Parts: sequence; C-alpha cells; structure tokens
Amino acid sequence: MLRSLFTSTALALMGIPLLHAQQLAATPPMGWNSWNHFEARIDDQTVRQIADAMVSSGMRDAGYVYVNIDDTWQGARDTQGNIQSNARFPDMRALVDYVHAKGLKIGIYSSPGPKTCADFEGSYKHEEQDARTYAAWGIDYLKYDWCSAAKVYPRTDMPRVYKLMADALKATGRPIVFSLCQYGLDKVWEWGAQAGGNLWRTTGDISDKWASMQSIVSKQNGLEKYAGPGHWNDPDMLEVGNGGMTDTEYRTHMSLWCLLAAPLLAGNDLRSMTAATQAILTNREVIAIDRDALGRQGYRIAKDGANEVWAKPLSGGEWAVGLVNAGPETAKVTVRWKDFGLSGKHRVRDLWEHRDRGAHKDEFWYEVPAHGVVLLRIK
Ligand code: GLA
Repeated sequence: MLRSLFTSTALALMGIPLLHAQQLAATPPMGWNSWNHFEARIDDQTVRQIADAMVSSGMRDAGYVYVNIDDTWQGARDTQGNIQSNARFPDMRALVDYVHAKGLKIGIYSSPGPKTCADFEGSYKHEEQDARTYAAWGIDYLKYDWCSAAKVYPRTDMPRVYKLMADALKATGRPIVFSLCQYGLDKVWEWGAQAGGNLWRTTGDISDKWASMQSIVSKQNGLEKYAGPGHWNDPDMLEVGNGGMTDTEYRTHMSLWCLLAAPLLAGNDLRSMTAATQAILTNREVIAIDRDALGRQGYRIAKDGANEVWAKPLSGGEWAVGLVNAGPETAKVTVRWKDFGLSGKHRVRDLWEHRDRGAHKDEFWYEVPAHGVVLLRIK
C-alpha cells in the first residue's frame, strides 16, 4: 500500500499522463445510462429509483457503479453563465448525494457544441465553467457528445476540442471519467486517449435489434490494439432487457461486449427487469472476462459463414473464447487452440452454464443455437 502510494506520487510528479486515466478506468467502466430505455423521459425521481434498483438487484455488488444521466437534464444558463438543470431535475446536488449515499457514482452528459443532440444546452464556450459545476455537484463521469459541434468547428479540430474539456475536468481536481461520443469518426481510437478520453464510441448508435448489435460487432475486429487500462473502445451501451431481442440474443450481446473489454452500461429499466435479464447482467463469471486485470480487448480468431470464434487473452495465461452462431439454425462451432496460439490439452469451463467441460486436446466444439453463444474460459 505504502509502496504503491509512493510509486503513484512519484509518477505524478514526473507527469506521466496516463496514470490519471489508469486510476480512473483501470477496467472498463460499468454502470447504467438513461438513454437506451428512457431517452427524454428521465427525471430525478426515476434516477433515484434506478439507483435503488441497482443496489437491490445485486447489480452494484456485481460491479455496476455509475448511474449516468444522458441527454435532456439541462436547463438554461443563469446570468453568470452557469449551467442549471431543468425542472425535471430540481436539485442536482441533492440527487448526486442520494446516489453517492448508496455506494454508487453518478454521471452526466453534455456536448462541445452549442446544443446537444436532443437540442438542449451544450458546453460551447463554457467548458471550464461547466467542468467546475459538475465537480461542485460531485459528478464522477461525463459523456461528451459531438452533435452540434459540427456546426461550429471543422472536423479536424475534434481532438483539440475534446482535449479542452479533458483538461478542464482534470483542472477541477475531481476524478471524472471522460467518455468521448463522436460515433467513431476520424479513427478516434488512434487519438482518443491523447485527447484525454477514458473511452470512445467506435460506431453510430446501437438500437435494440439483433441486426444493429451484429453490425456494431462487425466493426470492432482490429481495434483491439487501441484498448487498454484507462482507455477503452466503446461499442455503445447495452440493450439487454429492453425487449427487442431474445434472451439468447442478449446473452450473445453481453458475451461479445465482455470479450471486447467494452464498458458495460446497462440501458434497461432496472426497476422492472425479468429474472432472466438480471441473470444475464449479473453473471459474475462473464463479467470477470470484461474486467480481467490484463485489460486486453478480444478479437476474432475464426470465421466460417455465420460461425465466428472470438478470443480474449486473460491474466495468468488463460483465455476467454466465444463460439458465436450468427445464423438462423443451430450449428456446430469449433474452436481450435492453434488459432490463438495454444497447443496440447486445456481445461474448459462454460461460463453461462457454470460448468467445467473437462480437458480437451487441440480443439473443442459445441452445437450452438441460432443467434446464440457459448462462452468459455480456457485454462
Ligand atoms: C447521440 C448519442 C446517444 C445519446 C443521444 C442523446 O445520439 O450517440 O448515445 O446520447 O445522442 O441525444
């Protein structure tokens, strides 16, 4: 403890820039966000109830900690230019205190442009002032969404504009996770970390449909080298439990997000989720893949028609492997150890079934249902 304290102080004095980010998001951030389910129908009361449900459902104890308010909380600025919340959020500081008292953290949303995507007040020309307001309220996470910034800045300014807010957040002295949302434009993965991002969206918005989820997954392979502790690729928030996919499909969605070391931000109504949804979101063996200390993002090691095999290196020389059947019929999907550099006999554990499947030489196969997954830990 003493040694690690000394080390981080020494590194801070030396000005090592990534340290701040690593401490903030050493593993991909986990929590909940209001947008996917509630969109503009979000208010103080609902956020409090979600925080309650995050605790009572076991989500908090499974690792979900951020309660993030997305777009539509903003009101007008006061005469000094300070941003205020609107009538649906009568007292932001009190709401923050309520969420913190549950052992949770809280996030908020803005845009570098004059207006957010839903046409509410953005942070344009108020960056430092807004960062100070968020810190004074006790905010722990900011999602910063490009939106109308396109009208006031050339695209080439994007890294500078994001860094402006990253620096403003750092200057407050409060650790605030910084989430870049610009839909993957201009290969953000190449510069997002330098612009101060702890995570950056890699694609356009997800919707609660198998095709949308699949299309996002198809754009992630190859981005793995850009992710690591403190700076993550973000394939967008989870749709698990929102009703547009089957539970089998939601298990595939959750498994792929964990293989991708993606931020896990639940996007459903936690107050009324089914037991199946709760089980998908809180499976600790599955979550452990996402949060593995090595901090490596997985990649596709084999593709044969609609069958895909994804693998993620884990600490201790173990691997997570997902056998995905994206096709319409049950199919046999095989993983070959040599496709990710292993040989000989390895023990296999099934993480959705919570069962050991014995030791296998060279390969392992499964009959995987349509749109389903088998998620394994290989030891
Ligand atoms: C954009 C973002 C979404 C959400 C909305 C809010 O579309 O990509 O995630 O934040 O704006 O208006």
